Amino acid sequence: MTTPPCRTINWLYCFFDEYYQYIIYHIIKQLQVDSVCCKGYYSVGVRNTICGDVVQEMLKTRYLRINRNCPESHLIAEGAEVIKKGGLVAFPTETVYGLGADGLNSDAVLKIFQVKGRPRGNPLTLHVSSFKQAQELVSSWSPAAELLARRFLPGPLTLILPRSQGIPDLVTAGLPTIGLRYPGNRIALDLIKASGVPLAAPSANISGCPSPTSSQHVLADLDGKIDLILDGGPTEVGVESTIISLAGERPLLLRPGGVAKEEIEEVLKEKVVVADSVLHFEKASGEEENLCPGVNNKHYSPQARVIMVTGSPGEQVTKVKKFLAANTDQEIGVMATSEHFPIYEDFSVLPVYLTDLGSRTNPEEIANRFFSALRECDQAGVEIILVETIAPTGMGLAVMNRLCRAAEQHQI
Ligand code: TXA
Ligand code: MG
Repeated sequence: MTTPPCRTINWLYCFFDEYYQYIIYHIIKQLQVDSVCCKGYYSVGVRNTICGDVVQEMLKTRYLRINRNCPESHLIAEGAEVIKKGGLVAFPTETVYGLGADGLNSDAVLKIFQVKGRPRGNPLTLHVSSFKQAQELVSSWSPAAELLARRFLPGPLTLILPRSQGIPDLVTAGLPTIGLRYPGNRIALDLIKASGVPLAAPSANISGCPSPTSSQHVLADLDGKIDLILDGGPTEVGVESTIISLAGERPLLLRPGGVAKEEIEEVLKEKVVVADSVLHFEKASGEEENLCPGVNNKHYSPQARVIMVTGSPGEQVTKVKKFLAANTDQEIGVMATSEHFPIYEDFSVLPVYLTDLGSRTNPEEIANRFFSALRECDQAGVEIILVETIAPTGMGLAVMNRLCRAAEQHQI
């Protein structure tokens, strides 16, 4: 049986009353869905395991449209009010939407893990709105941190540094380090400022599903589970921030993202070590898992099975055509680069869903389209998604990292 991830079942007409908690729990387990809603309650699982072993009461999620260039102060104030009361607010950053809570309030932070179905061992990053606020959260601010912060922040880079006292253990999953993110989006910055605390904010999706680049993606995963969504339109970068650890002897790239590795090396004037897990899905070694605990979790997977198409551009076209011709009994989606899109449009065996990721010469554009394209393929009901690969340089490294994780070991 194929696993159908990223699925929410809205069990509107169910008539079990007393045993709903027990029943929701077992529906998740039996059907291997990600989330089940039933008579005003929900529970979240991740694939065939149950992470949210707690059945939660559904909320009425409020949805506010907000101006991304000049956020209305009364809307920001509403968001901050929710945060101060220990609630959850989804908000745009320049990378993906975040799910924010008061990062110094353990009860609020716990809700993030519950609604996302996120394993407790996977630490959260803290979002700040000034260098001063960032420095208060660390026990040492190294020269490398200063160089990177001055060049890239606010922006799509997360720094891992030794943590200071006073950060709840739940945020750091007990690690001696903290991930700091100073986002470049006005709505995010205004919300953090108005809340008066650093915000713990992972991506606003159910764990393991593609990250949300629009408020519609957030609604699809978290409607009824969080207090508020601030809709500031689609995000600009489209993949998450780059994560670099400065806690060891050498800078270590844990996740490629909105700032390219090459740019970081230019600023630090040294080579950055790339964690093994970045381009390989095989389980990370114990040592690496200790440095980045989320690394072995399933990631970015849509409902359909993702298959990477490898080889030179010409070989990729041949492989896609051959696969389409040999599997006409299956519903296949193709995520193609712009250069190849017209070739598949004219091919005798059309895929059920064909999407243009952007040009091979513009990996930023491909990064921007990647997560939403995975979700669109799911909506089109495909069973398999063939995704063309690109060179893992510049932003291409971030794209290939997300693709490797989504496809696990599947490739042609
Ligand atoms: O662009 C982003 O970074 C987005 C937006 C919302 O800010 N956030 C985001 O958060 O992607 P999340 O939780 O989905 O991913 C953060 C990653 C996780 O894989 C986690 O394991 C890792 O950062 N992380 C957090 N704290 C860490 C630490 N102290 N050491 C190593 N890795 C850490
Ligand atoms: Mg995430």
